[in-house]
Amino acid sequence: MRLAGKVAVITGGGSGIGLASVMKFAAEGANVVVADFNAQSGNAAVEAALREGYDVSFIETDVAREEHVEAMCEHALEAYGRLDILFNNAGVGGAIGPLTETTAEDWNYTFDVLAKGVFLGIKHGARVMRRQGTGGAIINTASIAGLSGDGGPLVYSAAKAAVINLSKSSAVELAPDYIRVNAICPGFIATPLNDEGNPEATKHAYAKSQPWPDYGRVEDIAGTALFLASDDATFVTGEAIVVDGGAIAQGPGRSLKFPKKSARNSRYSGITKGSTGAENKLRKLDTNETHNNQPDGAM
Ligand SMILES: NC(=O)c1ccc[n+]([C@@H]2O[C@H](COP(=O)([O-])OP(=O)(O)OC[C@H]3O[C@@H](n4cnc5c(N)ncnc54)[C@H](O)[C@@H]3O)[C@@H](O)[C@H]2O)c1
Repeated sequence: MRLAGKVAVITGGGSGIGLASVMKFAAEGANVVVADFNAQSGNAAVEAALREGYDVSFIETDVAREEHVEAMCEHALEAYGRLDILFNNAGVGGAIGPLTETTAEDWNYTFDVLAKGVFLGIKHGARVMRRQGTGGAIINTASIAGLSGDGGPLVYSAAKAAVINLSKSSAVELAPDYIRVNAICPGFIATPLNDEGNPEATKHAYAKSQPWPDYGRVEDIAGTALFLASDDATFVTGEAIVVDGGAIAQGPGRSLKFPKKSARNSRYSGITKGSTGAENKLRKLDTNETHNNQPDGAM
C-alpha cells in the first residue's frame, strides 16, 4: 500500500482521469475526497469506491471559486483529519473556434477553470500542508497542449502552459516546506472530455495519434499521479512529466511525412557525409552489400 495513512483530494474526481485516480489512490490505502462540479458523477464515483470497500467522500466544488476550494481543503480535515495529497485535475475543453471569434468571456471561463482553479488549489492546499508541518504532494494536470502550438484549442493550450509554469514556480516556493509540486502532461487519453459520445471511435482514432500503437488510458495518467503522490517521488518536484505514448518525442513527424526516411523502414544502414565530397558508406540491410552512394530514399 503506497499511500497508507494518507489523505488525498482529487478535483474532477467524478470522471475520466480523476475517477481512475480516485480508485487507484484508494486502492493504495488513501482516504480520498472526490471534489467535482458535477454532483451526479461525483456521488456515483463515491458509491463505486464504497462498493470496493474504500473510504472516500464527496464535496461539490467549483474549482474556479475560491470559497469552494477553501471548503474542499477544510472538508479533508473534517472528514479525515489531514491533507497530504492534492491532485488539481478538474478540466474542460473551454473556448473553441478561431481566435478571431473567441470572446474575452470565453477566454476568462477557460482560464478560470484550468489555470485559476489550479492556482487556488495550490494556494489553499499549501496553506493546510504548511500548517500540518509534514510536507505534501501537489499534482496538477496540464497537457501536451501546453507544450506545443497545435496540441489543443488555443485558449486551452495557453491555460495548460500556465499550469506547467505555475507548477514549477510554486515548487520552488514550497520546497522549503517539503511540499512537492509537479505537473502531468497527458497526451491523447480516451475520456468523456473528448469522446463526443462515441468512445470506441475515439479509442480507434487515438490509437493512431502517436508512435505508441494503442490509445492512452485513464489508468496511464492515474499511475503517474500515484508515483508523484507517493514517497517514491520524494526528490521529484517542479517537474512536468509527459505521458503521451511518444507524441511530443515525435516532434515534427518527419518519418510520418516521409515514410521512406524513417529509420524503421530504411533498407540501408551506415554513414552519410552530406556535401563534404567524402564517400558515403552504406550497407543494404538484407544483403550485406556495400554502397558508396546514398540510394534514393534511404535516409
Ligand atoms: N483526455 C485527454 O486527452 C486529456 C489530455 C490532456 C489533459 N487532460 C486534462 O485532464 C484533466 C481531466 O480530464 P478528463 O479527460 O479526465 O475529462 P473528464 O471530462 O472525464 O473529467 C473532468 C472532470 O472535471 C470536472 N470539472 C469540470 N469543471 C470543473 C470545475 N469548474 N470544478 C470542479 N470540477 C470540474 C468535470 O465535472 C469532470 O468530472 C483535465 O484537466 C484535462 O484538461 C485531458
